[in-house]
Amino acid sequence: MIAVLNIDELAEGTAKGLEVNNLYFFAVKKDDQVYLYWNRCPHLGTPLEWEEDRFLDADGALIQCSTHGALFQIEDGLCLLGPCRGKSLQPIPHHLDNGLIMVDEKLFAPNTQT
Ligand code: FES
Repeated sequence: MIAVLNIDELAEGTAKGLEVNNLYFFAVKKDDQVYLYWNRCPHLGTPLEWEEDRFLDADGALIQCSTHGALFQIEDGLCLLGPCRGKSLQPIPHHLDNGLIMVDEKLFAPNTQT
């Protein structure tokens, strides 16, 4: 497992873009829970954010794709509105260890992404 972020660096109600081995993902903290998703919209596969670390809508209630405005639930990545409605962001399994968000480094090995 590798540490990708200290949970203290992620404020409640915000998101942060992350990268390991040129693979891009992001973390969101909501109600003290952390969610990790690959930074790839299920519509066209583009990155979601409209500027650095801006993954959420104006209320901070939903994840928003900057390309065509699709909206996703933070808790499970399900697209509620937009061209990929009914599809989901792909979550990244993780756990917390001493305040660090840990993920399996195998997910970031070259050539594991399809
Ligand atoms: S690429 Fe995300 S909504 Fe179209």
